[in-house]
Amino acid sequence: MFSGFEERVKRAVKSVREVESVSPQLGIILGSGLGDFIDRFSGREIPYTKIDGFPLPTVEGHRGTLKINPSAAVLAGRFHYYEGYDPDDIVLPIFLLHGLGVRTLIVTNAAGAVNPEYKPGELVLIRDHINLMGVNPLRGPNIADLGPRFPDMSEVYGLQLRQLVKSISKQSYREGVYAAFQGPCYETPAEIRMAAAFGADLVGMSTVPEVIAAAYLGIKVIGISCVTNMAAGILEQPLSHEEVVATGKKVAPQLAELITSILNNLSG
Ligand code: HPA
Repeated sequence: MFSGFEERVKRAVKSVREVESVSPQLGIILGSGLGDFIDRFSGREIPYTKIDGFPLPTVEGHRGTLKINPSAAVLAGRFHYYEGYDPDDIVLPIFLLHGLGVRTLIVTNAAGAVNPEYKPGELVLIRDHINLMGVNPLRGPNIADLGPRFPDMSEVYGLQLRQLVKSISKQSYREGVYAAFQGPCYETPAEIRMAAAFGADLVGMSTVPEVIAAAYLGIKVIGISCVTNMAAGILEQPLSHEEVVATGKKVAPQLAELITSILNNLSG
């Protein structure tokens, strides 16, 4: 984080506090094309344009809005490194959620399957991640009031939360390791073989910076990847953004249901 970041966080929290006083414990971040849940969720809607210092998402399918009620705060629209944002911009929403009272976070994303057993359209629980982005949002002066200089990352996607998700779902979910590349190009087949050799099951271009920030702040994380395609080189066909978007759209209602049941369970 750069110096001045703490002030930036305070200003963002203040602009939400000016219109809404609730302090939900649960935060939810909806990935590209996975925004369906927000329409089922009732709460006060605050567009990013009304949150002081918030950048605006440039990716289609990202709405750029916060919805908040006493149980949860939902963000539809995230900031990716490949869009040109600084890591500070990418993690500002996590610091905002923390400032509003959030202590458990559900992060969702669209991902390519490195694991050949996975199928497009499947939801996978993230068990761990590998940061191949080449950036870390915690670089820079540490804000000692908020978190440690050297945060522990041994169990960021908490076992108890993963077990809870499995116990409340009718369906069984596999668990996998998510590797984050910078993007915006998809990976080469050789990069996917490397990711597989490293132990990755999924690849994507998001989530890891936000999860690092959450771990730093002591927020517990549930990560859900929506497999939108088989990763490069697994099938003999090129990857297409249209395929990723179309599969994401198909799975969005199932993801919305899963998030709803987690929300009901955690707030009930
Ligand atoms: N690679 C990287 N990011 C992605 C992919 C992929 O195959 N699918 C969806 N997001």
